Formats: sequence, structure tokens, C-alpha cells
Amino acid sequence: MLASAIIPAAGSGKRFGEKKQLKELSGRPLIHYTLTPFLESSAIAEIVIAAQKKDFDKLASVVDSIATEKKISIIEGGDTRQGSISNALAQINSNTEYVCVHDAARPFVSSELIEKLINALKTCDAVTVGRKSTDTLKECTNGIVRRTIDRKKIWQVQTPQAFTKEVIMNAYELAEKQNILATDDSSLVEEAGYQVNIINDSSINFKITTKEDWIMAEAILRFKKNV
Ligand code: CTP
Ligand code: MG
Repeated sequence: MLASAIIPAAGSGKRFGEKKQLKELSGRPLIHYTLTPFLESSAIAEIVIAAQKKDFDKLASVVDSIATEKKISIIEGGDTRQGSISNALAQINSNTEYVCVHDAARPFVSSELIEKLINALKTCDAVTVGRKSTDTLKECTNGIVRRTIDRKKIWQVQTPQAFTKEVIMNAYELAEKQNILATDDSSLVEEAGYQVNIINDSSINFKITTKEDWIMAEAILRFKKNV
């Protein structure tokens, strides 16, 4: 079960206020935390990072600082996350059977979680990690609550997400043909008519989107250092 990992890292951090993927988080660039479990996981054969061209040199020096036998490629991302992943899919090893996609901006992923997803591909073609919503959910427009949504069936979805190569390739091909844009890969796989399985996971795995998330990430790392 050997997989290629794709790490989209070509974003601009608009909601964060600056680019975050190479910013130092408690002494290490954010993406260093994200890459480490992929390097440690025996299920991952290679890593393809999609980045903005102007960040290639900085990113290469982060990659060079990591001792690993694994092939890590840095390729140019696109204008959207989907475009970045599409570019990365074109660069994965032709012998790869599985693809695991994970946001550079989620530094708390673990190798256990990565392996859980890849192992799930023994019995399905597409799988995402997620968790049941714990907040009450409302549909609202113009500051007015229109209805309450039954949260029993609602899941929040994160990355990693893992796919057989054939399924993710077909989904991306269809998305391009039909101009479908989505914020995650499993949506494109659903659009292409495939079943997507979901694994419940409650480990810390949030995406650093805002400055508040950054403060939270620093606090978690401080806590981890002290235990
Ligand atoms: N990403 C990418 N290519 C893009 C846009 C996003 O590879 N054109 C990556 C980001 O680097 C990030 C992930 O996709 O790792 C999505 O996380 P997000 O929080 O949306 O990151 P940004 O797009 O950088 O942030 P924002 O949307 O606030 O600009
Ligand atoms: Mg974004």
C-alpha cells in the first residue's frame, strides 16, 4: 500500500493576513510540522509539494534541512487549491497506486492518521477524515436564522483524504471538463459519482486559517513541550 502524498502549499493566506506555510511556528516553519508525519509514515513513498514559484528557494531549504531518503518534489501550484493539486497529480510517480492529499496548513496530522486512511483503501476507493458537528447548526441569510439543521447527519470534513490514483485522476479530469470548482478533493470525487467513505477522528487536526488559529497552535505546541 504505497502512496504519493500531495501537500498543497501555494496559498496566499488572505484570511491570515500573510503567507503562513513558511512562517516560524514555535521555532520551525509551519510546513515542517506538516511534512514530518508523512516522512515518518511507511505508507508514503514520495511527497509532492505545490508551492508558489517565489517560495521555491525557501521551501527547498526547509526540505533540505530534513534528513530523509524519500523523494520530495516541489512543483508550481495553481491559482486555486484545486489547481495546485491538479498540477501535483501530473507529477506523481507513474507507478503510484494511491494518493493522499493533506493541507500544508494542518500541522497536527499524525502518521497514525495517514496510515489509517491509506489502509482504508483496501476496502474502498476514496476516504476522508471528519468529525460529527458538535455545535447546533443554523441556516441563515442576512443575519436571520432561517432554519435549524439536524446535526445528527452533519460531519465536518478535514484532510488527509486518500484515493486510489484512478479515482482521483478521473475526478480531476471530469472537474476540468465540466468546470467544477470545490474546496476539497472528496467533493470532486463525489461529483464524479464515486462513493466517499468517512473516518471519524477527533484528534487535534485543525487548519491554521486565522491569527487566532496560530495562537492556538502555539499554545498546543507549548503544552506538548511541557508534558
Ligand atoms: N493552497 C494551494 N494553492 C492555492 C490555494 C491554497 O496549494 N492556490 C493550499 C494552502 O497553501 C493551504 C491549503 O491549500 O495549505 C488550504 O488552506 P487555506 O487556509 O485556504 O490556505 P490559503 O489559501 O493560503 O488561505 P486563504 O484562503 O485565507 O487565502
Ligand atoms: Mg484558501
